[in-house]
Amino acid sequence: MAKKIVILNGSPRRNGNTSALTAQFKKGAEEAGNTVTEFHLSSMNIHGCLGCWHGGQDTECPCVQRDDMMQIYPVYQEADVVVLASPLYYWFISGQLKTAFDRLFAVAERDPNYRNPKKQSVLIMAAEGAGFEESEHWYDHLEKHIGWKSLGKVLCGWVTQPGDIAGKPELTRAYELGRSIQ
Ligand SMILES: Cc1cc2nc3c(=O)[nH]c(=O)nc-3n(C[C@H](O)[C@H](O)[C@H](O)COP(=O)(O)O)c2cc1C
Repeated sequence: MAKKIVILNGSPRRNGNTSALTAQFKKGAEEAGNTVTEFHLSSMNIHGCLGCWHGGQDTECPCVQRDDMMQIYPVYQEADVVVLASPLYYWFISGQLKTAFDRLFAVAERDPNYRNPKKQSVLIMAAEGAGFEESEHWYDHLEKHIGWKSLGKVLCGWVTQPGDIAGKPELTRAYELGRSIQ
């Protein structure tokens, strides 16, 4: 059955390596009949979580802050699959992705036990080196803790500038992972 997929892209470079991977993933996923919505977080007005614990009141916009997360909340709540995409910044995901992800807590606040809605997920990353361990550890721990099921990871090392990723096998892997979702 066709799925709804949301990509949270934490790379500020639209022509960069992370976006090259998400483009291939999206191509494959759409060819398989899925619906894909990608958010380029860096060009959106998204503030950090206030830690107020007052979210979850409003279904459409569960957070007390009214910023561009209002575009993401309805798509996220409908989504079957959440793709976390980011460049590796100081051995972790970018601040843009972490900031948006923290704000999803407002959706969990709709549940009396703060349970996040059950989703499938994917991790996509690009880096100059290949030190993905901390990001993988975070992602694996997150999945376990909030009960999400990972469909796979595409981690492309040894790419620095836009275009470096051309010809890399990870592009095919991203396409195939997208294509495998049905
Ligand atoms: C602020 C910043 C921090 C970075 N930290 C790392 C790092 O810790 N390890 C690494 O291998 N590459 C690091 N890089 C390199 C990027 O991960 C690499 O250029 C990647 O291809 C960027 O993805 P993009 O093309 O989607 O922007 C860093 C780059 C920036 C701008």
